[in-house]
Amino acid sequence: MCGIIGITSNKPVITNIISSLKKLEYRGYDSAGIATLAKNFIDEVKCEGRVTKLEKICSKKSIEGIIGIGHVRWATHGVPNEVNAHPHSSENVSVVHNGIIENSTLLKKYLEKRGYIFKSQTDTEVITHLLSEFLKKNKLVAAIQKTLAKLHGSYALGILIKNHPDIIIGARRGSPLAVGYGHNENYLGSDSYALKAMTNRVSYLEDGDICIVKKDQVDFYNSNGKKINKKILELSDKNEEYQKGDFQTFMQKEIFEQPQTVKACINEYVDTLRDEINIYNLPWNLKEVKSICLIGCGTAYHACMMAKNWIENLTDIDVVTEIASEFRYKKNNFKKDNLYIFVSQSGETADTFAALELCKKNKMKTLGVVNVVESSIARSSNFVLPIHCGSEIGVASTKAFLGQMLVLYIFALQIGFLQKKLKKNDYKSKIKLLKKLPELIKKTMSVEADVQIIAKTFADSKGSMFLGRGLSYPIAMEGALKLKELCYVHAEGYPAGEMKHGPLALIEDGMPVVILAPRDKHYDKTLSNMQEVIARGAKVLLISNKGKEEISSDNLWKKILVENCSDELLPFLITLPLQMLALHAAKYKGYDIDKPRNLAKSVTVE
Ligand code: M6R
Repeated sequence: MCGIIGITSNKPVITNIISSLKKLEYRGYDSAGIATLAKNFIDEVKCEGRVTKLEKICSKKSIEGIIGIGHVRWATHGVPNEVNAHPHSSENVSVVHNGIIENSTLLKKYLEKRGYIFKSQTDTEVITHLLSEFLKKNKLVAAIQKTLAKLHGSYALGILIKNHPDIIIGARRGSPLAVGYGHNENYLGSDSYALKAMTNRVSYLEDGDICIVKKDQVDFYNSNGKKINKKILELSDKNEEYQKGDFQTFMQKEIFEQPQTVKACINEYVDTLRDEINIYNLPWNLKEVKSICLIGCGTAYHACMMAKNWIENLTDIDVVTEIASEFRYKKNNFKKDNLYIFVSQSGETADTFAALELCKKNKMKTLGVVNVVESSIARSSNFVLPIHCGSEIGVASTKAFLGQMLVLYIFALQIGFLQKKLKKNDYKSKIKLLKKLPELIKKTMSVEADVQIIAKTFADSKGSMFLGRGLSYPIAMEGALKLKELCYVHAEGYPAGEMKHGPLALIEDGMPVVILAPRDKHYDKTLSNMQEVIARGAKVLLISNKGKEEISSDNLWKKILVENCSDELLPFLITLPLQMLALHAAKYKGYDIDKPRNLAKSVTVE
C-alpha cells in the first residue's frame, strides 16, 4: 500500500520519477505527488487521482531538480485529496511515507504546542515537523534517529532535506524499502518492481535500517546508528516488460496466461521424464513434520484452505489454516514438529509477514510460498517455494491463485510420498495427471463466451451466493471474493451443506447462485443443495465438469462444463469460469478492472 520512489542523479529526475510512479500504481492509486529539490527550494506537486493527472500538471511546469521523491497513495489517515497526498513538505523537509504512525495524534499535539502548523489530516505530516525540530540541534543521522525513535507503528520513508541537497534518506520499520544502484544515479523504492526499469542491482533495508543515498554512494546504518555494509543482489529480469498485449486489462491477460504459468511452474518442480518431484535441500526433514499451519490473507488464504484438504487427504498430518491478521494477535501453541507455511503473492503483506516474524521468534520451521522472490517473506522464511507465475499486475489475484494452489498441491504430493502415505505408483500416476493440467486449463478457456453472457445477471443483481462442498468450498469463497472485489456487489461463498442453517433465508426469486458441483464424491449431495435453492426461486448457474451422463434439471438456469480430470485437480478448472465471471460482470458495469476501488495490490499496512 502506497508506493515510494526516490532518485538522485546528475540530470533532471522528473521523467523517471513519473514513469516509476506509473509502475507503482498497483500499490495505491487514490492520489500521487512528487517533490524535487533545486536551487535551495523544495518544489512539491500533488493531486488527487492517478499518476497521469500528476504527469499533466508537471508537464505545464518546469521542474529541474536532479534529486526528488515521489509517492502514490492508498489512504489510511485522511480522505484522498491533494492536501493529504504525499509528499508532506515544510520549508526544509519533504517526506513520503508508507505505513501507519500509530501515535500521530499525540505527536501532533506535542508539535502544535511548539508552534508547528499542520496542513493535512495525515499521520505522515508529524514526521516532517519532528525531523525539522530535531535538525535544529542535531547532526543529520542523529536527527533522523531521534525522529524515528519517537514513531510508533510502521514506516518506509523517503526524505529530502533542503540543507542536504545531494541526498535522499530512506528508513524502514515494518514496510519494505529497497535501494537501487545505477550509473551516476541511485534510487530508493518501496519495492524492486519500480526500480527494475532503471537497474537490476538492489539492496534491501531490514527493520531499523537507515540509508543515505547520494548519486554515487549509498551509506547504510542499523538501528544502533552503526554503519553497515549491504549485499548487492542482482535481479533476474531487468528488461522484463509488463504489457497488456492484445488484452484490454492485465487481469484478462493474467487469466489467459494460466496455461503457460501453470506449465512453467510444473516444469520447475516436476521431473517430467521420471515423474518425480524436485523439491530438495529443505532445511528440515519432511518425514518428521507432524503438523502444518498454513497462513495467508484473502485469495492466498483460500489457497491455504485448498492445501489443508489436499495434505489431509494425502497424509496423516494435522493441518490448520490461519488468517494472518488473526494469527498474529492470538495465543498460539508453538510446537517443535510443526511447520508453518506462509502463502503470499507479493511476499509483502504486512499481516502475513508479521505472522512469519512471530513464528521465527518462536524458532519454528517456516516455509514461504511466494511469487515475488525478492520480497520480505521470501527473504525471511527458512525456505521458499516460488510459484513462478511472473508479475501479477491486476489487483484481483488470478494466476497467482492457481500458482499457489499448484505449489501447495505438489508439496502435498511430496510430503505424502515421503511420509509413505502415498504409494509410489499412486504418486507417479498423480504426477502424470498433473502434467496434463496446462492443456486442460487451455481447453477450459473456451467457456469464456458463455460466461460473458451470464455475467450480466450477476452484475445487475444486488447479491449472489457461491456454494460448494469439499475441495469446491474454498473455490466458492474465492469466486465470491473476486465478484465483490471487482463488481462491488455482495457475494457470499458458503459450504453448500450449511445453507439450511441460516443463509437459505437470503434466497429470493431471481437471485443468482453459483453451484460448484464437479463430479466428485460430493456431487449428489451438492445437486440436492442445488434443488433446494432452485425451489426457492434462485437462478442457478451450475459449474461442473464434462462427463458421460448429461446433467439436466428442471428450472436450472445455466450450466458451464469445464474439462474432465482427476477430482484433486478439478479445483483448478472450476476456478477459471469464476475468474471470468467477475471480470465480465465488472466490465458490464464499466469499472476499473485492474484497479478496483479502495484496494491495492500489495497490502503493506495492517
Ligand atoms: O500478496 P498477497 O498474496 O499476500 O495478498 C493477499 C491478499 O491481499 C490478496 O490475495 C487479495 O485478497 C486479492 N486482491 C484478492 O484478489
